[in-house]
Amino acid sequence: MRLAAVVDGGSVTIPRSQVEALWTERTPAVVGLGPGAGAVVLWPLEDGALRAVGATCTHLGCAVRPSGEFLVCPCHGSTFASDGRVVRGPAPRPLPVYPVLVGDDVIEIDLTNARTIR
Ligand code: FES
Repeated sequence: MRLAAVVDGGSVTIPRSQVEALWTERTPAVVGLGPGAGAVVLWPLEDGALRAVGATCTHLGCAVRPSGEFLVCPCHGSTFASDGRVVRGPAPRPLPVYPVLVGDDVIEIDLTNARTIR
């Protein structure tokens, strides 16, 4: 699934109505950030929250994609857990994880506050 988003500086806004299916279907979705800006993957969590994980491989910058419980890079096979941790290299670092605010009408992803889980 791919979601349409409004990107304004370091903030990404998505109508909540687009995201509801993630929780019911328990599947992640790719959110494009615009031409040349990469993407993030939104993962539904058990408690009605969402996790936003950067989708640019930390090896050489290819776009990673959800595959089952993981994010997989098609270029050289790096595999990441849904929280961004490296499961299999050659990627040298985890993917960034961004805060997600789930509001009544919209979902907001804050791209300015990345953290990584090691
Ligand atoms: Fe992803 Fe090399 S660019 S594994």
